[in-house]
Amino acid sequence: MYLTNEEERIYDGEYGWTNQICMKILVRLGELFAATKLIPINSAHVSGISYKTLGDAPIEFLEALSATGGKVSARATLNPQGLDTEYLGKKLDEKIRRKQLNILKQFEKMGFAQSLTCTPYYIEEPSQGSHLAWAESSAVVYANSVLEAWTNREGGPSALAAAIIGKTPDYGIHKAVNRQPKASVTLEAQPQNEIEFGAIGAFLGKVLEDKIPVICGLKGSSKEDLKQLGAALASTGMANMFYLHSASMRLDKPEKITIENNDIKSSVENLSTSAKSEPELVFIGCPHCSMNEIKNVACTIGGRKVKGGKELWICTSRFVKEKARNYVGEIEQSGAHLITDTCAVVTWTEKLGIRTIMTNSAKTAYYAPTLNKAETVLAPLKECLNTALEG
Ligand code: F3S
Repeated sequence: MYLTNEEERIYDGEYGWTNQICMKILVRLGELFAATKLIPINSAHVSGISYKTLGDAPIEFLEALSATGGKVSARATLNPQGLDTEYLGKKLDEKIRRKQLNILKQFEKMGFAQSLTCTPYYIEEPSQGSHLAWAESSAVVYANSVLEAWTNREGGPSALAAAIIGKTPDYGIHKAVNRQPKASVTLEAQPQNEIEFGAIGAFLGKVLEDKIPVICGLKGSSKEDLKQLGAALASTGMANMFYLHSASMRLDKPEKITIENNDIKSSVENLSTSAKSEPELVFIGCPHCSMNEIKNVACTIGGRKVKGGKELWICTSRFVKEKARNYVGEIEQSGAHLITDTCAVVTWTEKLGIRTIMTNSAKTAYYAPTLNKAETVLAPLKECLNTALEG
């Protein structure tokens, strides 16, 4: 891989250990994927922040990186951590809190913004055609497909290294040739709500492997519905983007996939592991809610109260919560918790006695049985809220 003089000096350690180790991570990755050079990035987004998913082993490495003066050289944001400071932080034990705070402190020392969200694009939208190094799979698909930015699906360490160096290896879908669609998807039935968009994503993820699809028949869908589709697509498969069909698109011998109504219905059914619809937790906000979604939740709650013995969590970023402050009171007066910085999947729901999670997110429904040891019920927003609320 070609390195400029300055990159070589970083590689040789002239700019300190942190820069050297990060450059070595990027060069190794570039060599693995036959990249010929590094390219500058506009932003990096690091996942694996929650102590629940990170564990103890990488903490020492993070401490070493920050102690030797590592500083980000591009805009750098963080995925959700394992708890918030207001609600879950008070319910979980002190040891967990200390460990989580320490992880965050290391990132803060290196100059990462404490965004703590999987929807960093609501804080600052990357521009069309800009190169990124993002590690949250749902955000990767959204950035590539909806915002038309260019990013591979990074791992936590490679996104961190890219944030420090401000560059990423030029391979994968940073190259136009690799952004060509290879599959054409025809929908025989239109998705009726957000869970059906998620179900289509989950279905496609399994059949596509890493092929990029063009999906016919979804033009005019809301960005929130496409967010659900992309999050589920990235959960069950390795495709990092999709296109919505337009008349000017020409595909060279694409694999043809047809999705029928039955495929959508059985994908929804497969994502619900529990027949029992009495969850302890109803969770909305995977990926983290947009301003529109918060408004919709507040309107659907409509002055009702959360039933005794149930929890209703709406998860978003601090940034969106602040923007949505007109709706926060309405949501919180119902007894629901508008939680920032974390989500049901990356916090310790098991420790809170939660055995069944109802959600409108196909991604959560896919991961919760393994990551939360929970049964799942996948249902649209209105049904989720009706289950959580009186009346
Ligand atoms: Fe975000 Fe948690 Fe879902 S990090 S994408 S809300 S699993």
